[in-house]
Amino acid sequence: MRTRVGIVGAGPAGLVLSLLLAERGIESVVVETRGREEIERTIRAGVLEQGTVDLLTDLGVGARARAEGARHEGVELRFGGQGHRIDFAGLAGRAVWLYPQHEVLKDLIAARLKGGADIRFGARDVALRDVTSDRPVISFTDADGTPVELRCDVIAGCDGSAGVSRRTVPDDVRTDYFRAYPFGWFGILVEAPRSSEELVYAHSERGFALISTRTPDVQRMYFQCAPDERPDDWSDDRIWAELNARVAGGGFTLKEGRIFDKGVIAMRSYVCEPMRHGRLFLAGDAAHVVPPTGAKGLNLAVADVVVLARALERFFTANETDLLDAYGPTAARRVWRAQHFSWWMTSMLHLDPAGSAFDLKRQLGELELVTGSTAAATHLAESYTGWPIEL
Ligand code: PHB
Repeated sequence: MRTRVGIVGAGPAGLVLSLLLAERGIESVVVETRGREEIERTIRAGVLEQGTVDLLTDLGVGARARAEGARHEGVELRFGGQGHRIDFAGLAGRAVWLYPQHEVLKDLIAARLKGGADIRFGARDVALRDVTSDRPVISFTDADGTPVELRCDVIAGCDGSAGVSRRTVPDDVRTDYFRAYPFGWFGILVEAPRSSEELVYAHSERGFALISTRTPDVQRMYFQCAPDERPDDWSDDRIWAELNARVAGGGFTLKEGRIFDKGVIAMRSYVCEPMRHGRLFLAGDAAHVVPPTGAKGLNLAVADVVVLARALERFFTANETDLLDAYGPTAARRVWRAQHFSWWMTSMLHLDPAGSAFDLKRQLGELELVTGSTAAATHLAESYTGWPIEL
């Protein structure tokens, strides 16, 4: 089999790339190890930057996000028992949308299949070969058991941090920038009405907590925990006591309900550079991971493939490699800004288990600054709602 762009992974990066390429008349095939049903029901992130929603709208897949998602024009930072609003619309002229990632994926998959795309769900034994030649190959076993050799002009590695693409870049050409955090997030899904119109990011002496939402009837909440915390050690009563202790005060009450999912998420920062090896280009989580505090993961994946699609268009229409050569450095500039923002939000809001009383007071000073100074609040608002994609 032959195609122009072989895309490994049907997540946000892979599917948006395939849509951007189709719009430019460039053929691609998407190879994905998971089944369609699994992708469409796995609950992940939920925050879309303004630029991401605008792009999805331009691509004809933003209607449901706009109709069923919720536009948020600010967030609340809670500390010292009080809430302080950061006004995104007023400070940055932008907003974010709460619309679950798996819903974005449903919309993207439906649009691509309607457009006649070739997406191989349930592929096994995916391996990349000859990526430094001009005929790189994706080999895999199809869902029906047929071995396939997919010869490509270019491969886009969009298969996440555990995928084969990143591992195909040899150790001696790859630099891994990595930072682990001494805590994780305990996440729950709850059948309950919203406790607040906007997301609440809470700093407390017991650690961080986040009150987020999925739909009017399903809420997503997190609290900082030990990295190796076991979900089964936490009864519902213990979870509510801990969450309440971290967000209580100033008239805020948490609306409780039936907890139907709980799990622990690792917190890490990671960048792989270069984001390219020969004809293999890494995008999204295959190239970088951010801690979820800045809500940047999906948005960063989308920004990568916007840059990549433009470079591929130039390569296939003008046979010029200048934009392909610039892809990694261009994408990495935004990636490192997002790394800084995600690290900064994380370190401002979480309790460092090895920290001192000084560190706690310093964090409160920082939060006073961010909520009290228009310049500092504007920085948070611009970063959270997303920098222009051309960056
Ligand atoms: C979520 O709703 O899952 C969520 C929201 C904001 C974050 C991280 C996760 O920063």
